[in-house]
Amino acid sequence: MTAATAETAFPKAVDICLDGVSKEFGNQVVVAPLKLEIRQGEFFSLLGPSGCGKTTTLRMIAGLEAPTAGEITIRGKSMAGIPIEKRPTNMVFQKLALFPHLSVFDNIAFGLRLKRVGRAAIRSRVNSMLETVKLEGYEQRSIAQLSGGQQQRVAIARALINDPAVLLLDEPLGALDLQLQLHMQQELVRIQRASGTTFVYVTHNQQEALAMSDRVAVMNEGRFEQVDTPLALFHRPASEFVARFMGQTNVLTGNVTSIEGDEIRVSASGLTFDVGAGARRSIGRKVVLSVRPERLHLGSHVGANAVLPLVRAVFQGTTILYTFGLPNGEELNVSALAPSDAVPAIGESVGLHWQRNAAIALEPANGG
Ligand SMILES: Nc1ncnc2c1ncn2[C@@H]1O[C@H](COP(=O)(O)OP(=O)(O)OP(=O)(O)O)[C@@H](O)[C@H]1O
Ligand SMILES: [Mg+2]
Repeated sequence: MTAATAETAFPKAVDICLDGVSKEFGNQVVVAPLKLEIRQGEFFSLLGPSGCGKTTTLRMIAGLEAPTAGEITIRGKSMAGIPIEKRPTNMVFQKLALFPHLSVFDNIAFGLRLKRVGRAAIRSRVNSMLETVKLEGYEQRSIAQLSGGQQQRVAIARALINDPAVLLLDEPLGALDLQLQLHMQQELVRIQRASGTTFVYVTHNQQEALAMSDRVAVMNEGRFEQVDTPLALFHRPASEFVARFMGQTNVLTGNVTSIEGDEIRVSASGLTFDVGAGARRSIGRKVVLSVRPERLHLGSHVGANAVLPLVRAVFQGTTILYTFGLPNGEELNVSALAPSDAVPAIGESVGLHWQRNAAIALEPANGG
C-alpha cells in the first residue's frame, strides 16, 4: 500500500492530546479542564476573545506553564516534567522575542547554528526562509531597523527554520497591516502544507481562523464552546456565543408557535421562521435564532415574508449591508450584492424574502 492510500484510508495519528488540562492562577480558573486531540499535520486554531485563555493553553503545550491538573501528550509521550527545550515544539510569541543585537540573518540562523549545521546549508536555508517571508535584501539589518510587521516575519522564519514537529503560533500576524496579514495567512497555510508541521494557531480574529484552519476550537472563559471545521462553525454553530463570534448575524428571541414533522415554526420579533426542531419540540418554548444577513433577500411586497422600513444602508464594496427596523424596535441586517443601479431609499418599505431554514435555532448564551 502506498503512503497516499494509507493516508486516505486511515485518519491521521493524534499528535497532541489534552486530557483534562486546566490552569488556575491563585484561585482564578483561567482554563477549565480541556479535552482535545489535534491530529498530525493539522492546522488547528484556538479562537476566542481577549482573556479567554488562548495564550495560557498554548504556553502549557509549549512547556512554559505547568497545568494545574490534567495531562498533555505529544506524539504519544507525556509532557509532564519535560522542559521546553526537550519538547518537539517551537513557538512564535504574541510579544516578539527576537535578539535585538543580532541581524535579521543571524536571528533566523540561530536555531541552525545551535544544531551545528554547516555554513553553506545555513546560508541556503536562511535565504529560502527570507524569500518565504518576503524579507530578501534585509538580512544585514538589525532588528531595531525593522517595522513591527517585518519583525513579526523574522520571528516566523526563525521558528520555522528548525522544522519543528509542532509549531505554536500566538497571534503572529496581529501587528501586520490588513493586506500583509491576508498575504501571510496564505503563506502560512502554504508553508504548513509543504512542511507537514502541525500548527496550533491562536487568534481572536474569526476571519483568520476560518481562512486558515482545518479545525477551530472556539474558546470562551477558559472553556471550548465548539471544536469543528470552519464550515460547520459558520453554518452549524452550537451556541449563541459561537454564532455571534463567527461574524455578523441577527440573533432573535422567540417562541415555538407550531410543530410540523421535523420542523418548528418560531415567531420572533414579529417575524416567522421555520427551523429544524432538534430538541425544542413543545409549543410556547423559548428559542434563540441566528439569522445570517445573507440568507435574507430584498424583493417586492408581493409574497414577502415581511415588509420593513429601511433604516440605513452601508456600502461595503461587493455587498451592501441593509439595516431594517423591526416592530419591537430591534434591527434586522440584510446583506446583498451591491446593485449597480439605485438602492432603496432610507425610510422606504421593502419586501423581505427568505427560504425555509433561513434561521437556525441556538443554545442561548446563558444556558437558559
Ligand atoms: N501569570 C498570570 N498570572 C495571573 N493571571 C494570569 C497570568 N497569565 C494570564 N492570566 C490571566 O488569565 C486569563 C487568560 O489569559 P490569556 O493570556 O491566556 O488570554 P488570551 O486568550 O491569550 O487573551 P488575549 O487575546 O488578550 O491575548 C486572563 O484573565 C489573564 O489576566
Ligand atoms: Mg493571548
